[in-house]
Amino acid sequence: MNDYYQTNTKGHLTIGGMDALDLAKNFGTPLMVYDVAQIRKQFQSFQQAFNQQKVAYAISYASKAFTAIAIYQVINQLGGKIDVVSGGELYTALKAGFPPAKISFHGNNKTKAELLFAVQKHVGVIILDNFYEIALLSQILNETQSKALVMLRVTPGVTAHTHEYDQTGQEDSKFGFDVNSGQAEQAFLQVQANKKMKLIGIHSHIGSQILETVGFKLEIQKLMELLNQWAEKYNYQPQVLNLGGGFGIRYTAKDQALTSKIFVDEIVKTVRNYAHEFHLKIPEIWIEPGRSIVGNAGYSLYTVGSEKKVPGLLPYLAVDGGMGDNIRPALYQADYEALLARCPKEKPTETVRLVGRYCESGDILIKKLSLPPTKPGDIIAMLATGAYGYSMASNYNRVPRPAVIFVENGKAQEVIKRETYADLISHDCFYQ
Ligand code: LLP
Repeated sequence: MNDYYQTNTKGHLTIGGMDALDLAKNFGTPLMVYDVAQIRKQFQSFQQAFNQQKVAYAISYASKAFTAIAIYQVINQLGGKIDVVSGGELYTALKAGFPPAKISFHGNNKTKAELLFAVQKHVGVIILDNFYEIALLSQILNETQSKALVMLRVTPGVTAHTHEYDQTGQEDSKFGFDVNSGQAEQAFLQVQANKKMKLIGIHSHIGSQILETVGFKLEIQKLMELLNQWAEKYNYQPQVLNLGGGFGIRYTAKDQALTSKIFVDEIVKTVRNYAHEFHLKIPEIWIEPGRSIVGNAGYSLYTVGSEKKVPGLLPYLAVDGGMGDNIRPALYQADYEALLARCPKEKPTETVRLVGRYCESGDILIKKLSLPPTKPGDIIAMLATGAYGYSMASNYNRVPRPAVIFVENGKAQEVIKRETYADLISHDCFYQ
């Protein structure tokens, strides 16, 4: 696994060229560190792949994977679009100066206030998820005398090979209009009949952490068949085909991650083939990668504290973070790799369970981890924690959420401050 991390002359782990031990010392732990060059490289790898294919495209970063003003700034610099799934994400993006026209608004139960906010801020496209929302948006557009570009999120009946909570394209899903039962067509007709909505295309997202291309090809087949029906019956010509995200990454040696190029090449080839077969114009192809943009660029640094050893059992090595800053192992049985930051290349001699500091037995970060000998105060780096770690963080046990730093060009900068105890009670009120 030596390709997945770098060391300096002292043998210490480096992140974006900076010594992980220095970062931990200067900013404290638990600490979330992003290597910004790696984020840029990932994003650009999708752009390059599409550019080589010479098709119209957009890469819309699924910002739920990691949301902060700073990441919106970086994606904007890269010329990307973003998708948001709540008023809070939208608010953050707008505060970051992200152009509203490049924002897509998702969600299976957007509130009236959120939709109104999106309409008033002239968000690029609202991705409609259900009939209730079509009616709600229609009402808002009438009340505000405005118009909106929309897409329909459809569930094509494709099951992605991933954790059950990460599957979304199958019929039995809370998201989107079902294709097979005709709901998608009904939604299409409602939107087409509405003068204030312009349907620029369709969207689907089949799941997350997908490590093969079969699901995407099936998804494209289903969507192109649907578009073909709408072309024949209603003479509809979509501008955009939005295929969602889900491109899997390497968490551990078990994950055979595909490159952005493989995903993009297969996607474009498949869209081209069906467009040719059905005599349709090739629509703009949009994708919404989240995890694959920020996942591998993120590292969690923790300090080792107590160790519990029971004869005959695997020891528990505890760190100062855990399920509060990374719920994924507890929630999805997600696997990660971790290193001893002062000597990641040293031969492992002990096997432990890496556990967190939260009052819950399930707060286990890594079930089986081989490490060189450790002592209290050592820094452990968990790899590939950049997606859905901080963004799903909580204050369970009233533990302040960690600081997040961006590292680039030999500089490290806090982009989300560490919470303080005062922050924790800032919304509490005394009961009179
Ligand atoms: N587009 C839509 C409509 C989505 O629902 C999602 C993720 C994405 C794009 C981005 O998917 P990605 O490229 O990041 O796989 N918390 C879970 C993941 C939930 C994903 C939700 N939707 C986890 O930690 O694995």
